[in-house]
Amino acid sequence: MTIIVTGGAGFIGSNFIFHMLDKYPDYRIVCLDCLTYAGNLSTLAPVMENPNFRFVKESITDREAVYKLFEEEHPDIIVNFAAESHVDRSIENPEVFLDTNIKGTAVLMDACRKYGIKRYHQVSTDEVYGDLPLDRPDLFFTEETPIHTSSPYSSSKAAADLLVLAYHRTYGLPVTISRCSNNYGPYHFPEKLIPLMIANALNDKPLPVYGKGENVRDWLYVEDHCKAIDLIIHNGRVGEVYNIGGHNEMTNIDIVKIICKELGKPESLITYVEDRKGHDMRYAIDPTKIHSELGWLPETKFADGIKKTIKWYLDNKEWWETIISGEYQNYYDEMYGSREGMK
Ligand code: NAD
Ligand code: TYD
Repeated sequence: MTIIVTGGAGFIGSNFIFHMLDKYPDYRIVCLDCLTYAGNLSTLAPVMENPNFRFVKESITDREAVYKLFEEEHPDIIVNFAAESHVDRSIENPEVFLDTNIKGTAVLMDACRKYGIKRYHQVSTDEVYGDLPLDRPDLFFTEETPIHTSSPYSSSKAAADLLVLAYHRTYGLPVTISRCSNNYGPYHFPEKLIPLMIANALNDKPLPVYGKGENVRDWLYVEDHCKAIDLIIHNGRVGEVYNIGGHNEMTNIDIVKIICKELGKPESLITYVEDRKGHDMRYAIDPTKIHSELGWLPETKFADGIKKTIKWYLDNKEWWETIISGEYQNYYDEMYGSREGMK
């Protein structure tokens, strides 16, 4: 079995590669990643020497390079993690989100059509459903919830999902889609809420909470997401969408307070800043389908997962300190330097 994992030098893709190489010693895993600011080759150092692993530095938008890779590897399965993934960046500059997330998906699926494939799996997000109101805790996203996006990021992911379903209906491509809630865990790029707060708190820097910090996300430990995708690509029904979520809703401010407590840092570091434009209020997944069809359930409780995550950031300072001392610093200054509340 040969699996091409795109975006495998990023947060979830790298965790997925570790999971697969560990669990299936006879599988060949090929990582296709063009190493944007979010891709980090050092993340894959533990598997670089593994004879069952190959890294290829190319973009999923490069048709020629993608076709060449299919000719070389004859993959059975494609798992597409490659994407521009940060909502704030999509608000500043939507275009690259359209190129990578939509066109890149089309190129990969064209390759699948041309060379034949057992499964194309699209890693999507609960953000395609838009948001839920805070005063309706009875509402959850199911696979039937209409697509109703808010940000350029979620719109580009939704467009890709529709294209994936269209390639299934029109060309009979054997596809599956998973829509997962917010992940956390090792190798999470420090521009996202949890790793950003851990890194800032460790450096005694302000902790920038957007708006009132009341927005709710449904947090899932990354390993549980990887296990769900593993189940879907092996046992999921072709043409189907599967929601993945942990029934673990928390407000942003509660998350930040937990991080302060775990690190022994004062809550006075918390700084309320100007809100994100179009900020989604609440995400909440109903994972009944993947549970009843494939037997998936989240295994890591948030109380344990956040401790493991914080320990990982303490034990792997070099990984994130290298990131925040480089090019990312310019982004941070641009994004937060002029933000109301941080001035
Ligand atoms: P990430 O930003 O950490 O990593 C993205 C990876 O894709 C990087 O390694 C980057 O170099 C690579 N990449 C970007 N453009 C590329 C291109 N044109 N060609 C090849 N590689 C390219 O993202 P992540 O958080 O690991 O998310 C992975 C996927 O999961 C994304 O599709 C995202 O939409 C989805 N998702 C993420 C979350 C979350 O909480 N992080 C939740 C649900 C779904
Ligand atoms: P993020 O990690 O960017 O994920 P997403 O927007 O995909 O859910 O943000 C999670 C939540 O945290 C979101 O409601 C925005 C908020 N947030 C802050 O309050 N401050 C920050 O500095 C960041 C990056 C996010």
